[in-house]
Amino acid sequence: MSKIPCTLRIARGSDIQQIAVMSRCLIEVGLRGWTWHPTRIARALRSRETCVLVAETEGRFAGFAITEFGDTRAHLSLFAVQPAHQRRGIGLAMIEWIMESALTAGIKQIDVEMRSNNFAARSFYEALGFVPKGQVAGYYQNIEAAVRMQRRIGSMAAAPEQ
Ligand SMILES: CC(C)(COP(=O)(O)OP(=O)(O)OC[C@H]1O[C@@H](n2cnc3c(N)ncnc32)[C@H](O)[C@@H]1OP(=O)(O)O)[C@@H](O)C(=O)NCCC(=O)NCCS
Repeated sequence: MSKIPCTLRIARGSDIQQIAVMSRCLIEVGLRGWTWHPTRIARALRSRETCVLVAETEGRFAGFAITEFGDTRAHLSLFAVQPAHQRRGIGLAMIEWIMESALTAGIKQIDVEMRSNNFAARSFYEALGFVPKGQVAGYYQNIEAAVRMQRRIGSMAAAPEQ
């Protein structure tokens, strides 16, 4: 599918519901309860260590990324693109923005976990140079294991650490 331009901006309060609903429907589907509920998203917006990024196409909400920035590592906590806009380069645009920001902050590594049956996400991260670092049993409410992946970002073109 052809790529579409998107603009990236920091999330605002009016995005909270949309982000929480996308989390429930696209990431937490089938799990007990709703862990990334609006209150938690609002907390992420207020946190000084967390960046909540929003992607828009034609002025409409298309995706988001929640990243926690530590001293040496960044952690992708939640990441999704609206189904109608997937495979158009929006996820890639958000990851590139996060990697540039992390590099600027002196961060050398990005970590992410995904549900072990989420093969689309795994293909996405592999295409972007992330490498699998093993499984974490029961990571998702003891219902499902996580696959952990990492990307070294010493330079944007750097090969991932094996
Ligand atoms: C994973 C996700 C964020 C990818 O976002 P996206 O905007 O569709 O990804 P992009 O268009 O930037 O894809 C970049 C590259 O990643 C790979 N890729 C992305 N989605 C893929 C899929 N479903 N299957 C195989 N490869 C895929 C491709 O190499 C793609 O390049 P190409 O389209 O030129 O072949 C999106 O599928 C999504 O929101 N999924 C549901 C929520 C989710 O699983 N979040 C991640 C939890 S950690």
